[in-house]
Amino acid sequence: GNGDPVANIDRYNLLLGTLGAPVGIPSVGVSYATGEAFANTAGLTVRITADTTSEVRQTENVIAESKKGNARSVVMAGAHLDAEPDTVGINDNGSGSAALLEVALQMAKTKTPNKTRFAWWGAEEANLIGSTFYVNSLTPEQRADIALYLNFDMIASPNYILGVYDGDDSAAEGSPAGPPGSTEIEAVFQDFFADRGLPTRAADFSGRSDYGPFIAAGVGIPSGGLFTGAEVPKTAQDVADYGGVEGAQYDPCYHEPCDSLFPVRNGADAALYRELDRQYDMFGNLNLEALDVNSDAIATAVLTFALDTSSLPA
Ligand code: PHE
Ligand code: ZN
Ligand code: ZN
Ligand code: ZN
Repeated sequence: GNGDPVANIDRYNLLLGTLGAPVGIPSVGVSYATGEAFANTAGLTVRITADTTSEVRQTENVIAESKKGNARSVVMAGAHLDAEPDTVGINDNGSGSAALLEVALQMAKTKTPNKTRFAWWGAEEANLIGSTFYVNSLTPEQRADIALYLNFDMIASPNYILGVYDGDDSAAEGSPAGPPGSTEIEAVFQDFFADRGLPTRAADFSGRSDYGPFIAAGVGIPSGGLFTGAEVPKTAQDVADYGGVEGAQYDPCYHEPCDSLFPVRNGADAALYRELDRQYDMFGNLNLEALDVNSDAIATAVLTFALDTSSLPA
């Protein structure tokens, strides 16, 4: 029946990669590696270079596209499946990957006018390799067929805020506004949270995740997404709005081994995590309250645009 994930997967064509174990970037001794992508039939071959270490490894983008719906108006949503060296990355980005999978499985129970396409990107942490490779692989016609792109990278940060990518860049300084239509996407998320009496924050939209290649000059696909915070410390106003611990990072385990099911065992501050546990429903380094509301927000945005993209520029 429709509750069977395998049956629901049948509603999609799987493209480019094959379903397999999440592929991590190998440990190369520094936080940010750089990489290049090479095409081949199975997926991507990635050369990762960091300091003096260089190695080549295979990774995949996993892409599931609905068999039904208007192919001239594709609603695309993505999350990166890889993690930094030496961490499983349960928040960065198990959170976005898992929520997107659930939304894809639920969407398989519906019939919508527009086609949906879900992407689990490889090698985001090595400079957006998987998503860049994908966007570069599209013809101008295929790019024009993508009505919008939604990105979910870190949506259950333990000491969270509810961030919505700032499509019009009204708050963030120094980065330009997103492509036309990005403001309308931002508004769908803002309305979702406003309807529930939840405050939001304008999240950086400068290209620091897999939406970057979609909003790049010359591509210009309207984009949006959610973000619950990484290395920045929580402010007093944040605590007033969301609870949590002032002065502690939104994700105290950002890019650390403790971004895991057992954060304290893996090096997180025990007193801080005791306090987060006291305040919130937590599961390892995931804040389940943030994950729950953001999963609903993802479902709402995907369904809204799968039904109708007329709010976006033609
Ligand atoms: N792309 C970042 C990552 O995966 C997420 C992030 C975006 C963190 C913007 C901070 C600011 O780590
Ligand atoms: Zn990361
Ligand atoms: Zn990430
Ligand atoms: Zn805005």
